[in-house]
Amino acid sequence: MGNAWWKEAVIYQIYPRSFYDSNNDGIGDIQGIIKKLDYLKDLGVTALWVCPFYESPMDDNGYDVSNFYNIAPEYGTLDDVKQLIEELHARGMRLIIDLVLNHTSDEHPWFIESRSSENNPYRDYYIWRKARPDGSLPSNWESFFGGSVWEYDATTDSYYMHIFSKKMPDLNWTNENMRNDIYEMIRWWLNQGVDGFRVDAVAHLDKNMEFPNHPTLPGRQYSGCYFEFSNRPKVHEYIREMRQKAFAGYDIVTIGEAGGATIEDALKYSAYDRNEFDMLITFDHCWVDEDSEGSPHVPGKWSYKKLELPLLKKSFKKYQVNMYGKAWNTLYWSNHDQPRVVSHYGNDSSKYHKLSAKMLATTLYMMGGTPIIYQGEEIGMTNVAFESLSDYRDVEIFTLYRETVGKGIASHEEIMDRIHKRSRDNARTPMQWDDSPYAGFSKVQPWINVNPNYVYINVKNNLQDEDSIYHYYRKLLNIRQNSKTLIYGKFNLFLEDDANIVLYTRELDNEIYLVLCNFFDNTVEVKLPDEINIENFALVISNYEGQKITRNMILRPYEAIVYRKQLSI
Ligand code: GLC
Ligand code: CA
Repeated sequence: MGNAWWKEAVIYQIYPRSFYDSNNDGIGDIQGIIKKLDYLKDLGVTALWVCPFYESPMDDNGYDVSNFYNIAPEYGTLDDVKQLIEELHARGMRLIIDLVLNHTSDEHPWFIESRSSENNPYRDYYIWRKARPDGSLPSNWESFFGGSVWEYDATTDSYYMHIFSKKMPDLNWTNENMRNDIYEMIRWWLNQGVDGFRVDAVAHLDKNMEFPNHPTLPGRQYSGCYFEFSNRPKVHEYIREMRQKAFAGYDIVTIGEAGGATIEDALKYSAYDRNEFDMLITFDHCWVDEDSEGSPHVPGKWSYKKLELPLLKKSFKKYQVNMYGKAWNTLYWSNHDQPRVVSHYGNDSSKYHKLSAKMLATTLYMMGGTPIIYQGEEIGMTNVAFESLSDYRDVEIFTLYRETVGKGIASHEEIMDRIHKRSRDNARTPMQWDDSPYAGFSKVQPWINVNPNYVYINVKNNLQDEDSIYHYYRKLLNIRQNSKTLIYGKFNLFLEDDANIVLYTRELDNEIYLVLCNFFDNTVEVKLPDEINIENFALVISNYEGQKITRNMILRPYEAIVYRKQLSI
């Protein structure tokens, strides 16, 4: 396992639409990112991952690309992106861009050609099927955004496949010409000077092209048989080919996104000896509180129950232990697809907001892997609860509503509550820079409302308050970046079944770190296991006035402490 710049990086994820609006049209943009680079550098960030900024009709805020070689006019121009790269490099920072390879927009020229006739050379760039002999859909598979994966197109009396929105037709990865066009595009971006890619929805490139039907849950029209288009064998062939034909020869990082991957899958995608990706993003730890069985009418991420901490710890352990020495982890709590972590796994009440946000950061970022901090996390931005459906913007919310309330299987109130807890728009409200109107994000009404709590949760307050979440992040990242043990050390989890406490060590050569966190709002007693020799541990950081290590400790609500010792040799 060699050292590498991306193993020692701190990545910060930017959702450009919501980060900073430099020209006051209500939409964040690339010049807006450039204006905030010093802020990010000060925080300790060494690389940015910027979500798609390509030309797009914005059905899914840019994940529906209509031209890979152009920048969406509301975000800027190719010159702005080149300037962003230069400004980053001048600060010793890097740029990772999003590559969307599973689908394009239905307004992409390839799709316009493809749908025009069955003989068009681009026909086979996408996945087309006729209705079944009985007139039913080619299969009863459900899309991730709700509804069928098939959309009818009258021009050729056929259906095209879309596992996300119907404006995002899936590319046909069995087509070699299509693959080569994609590789050419990737190399073009590498020649613009980007330092890596986060490869969107890559788990879905290989589909079962036989399209068998599957049983449906009671009351549901479509089957959530995502395994028919997720983490299937051929996806690995495509990734290896991509690595050879597109990525090879550049000092870059590649991060695959494979939702629903198991640890076995994850190792296939990212083990060093597999020559696929450098790192992987999975959702394993994001939904350990989901409750599909308890609410079959809204299975998956829209269902939830109280968090059982041991499940979360087991999820982390699975990756920390099984990947050690074999592959490199990503460490992330949230992104543009997840609710805000302080609301989800922390506590966003005014009493515990700061403490729990710091505890969550301590729990995660002392582990092994590369941190990926989502914009606003460093100031503890929270979920939002818009009252009206019309205040929401995410396409996924509207299909959920249509397929549940619209079909009489759930009430308006129930679905609004689920949207408040789980929707992706929780993470997409504008970045809260200060307490001026529109949170200093823009001088005009933004494309989505700001979270009303911007008056007190904002960057300006965080910078002024020495005890803020921001300053804690800064300190924590600094500790991490200056410690080979925290970057490369071995992870050991203790008290795995304890319902309240997270306790683990990181160890390398003769140095040990010990991380101890109380995950909830009650005061708890904890006895440190006898196998840990508590002598000589000194306090490194804590979210309270630090306490000394003892065998029996009392941890206050959301208390987080890190200790360190050097073993004598
Ligand atoms: C990924 C993205 C998500 C997007 C989807 C389709 O999961 O993170 O935002 O909607 O892929 O591109
Ligand atoms: Ca703008």
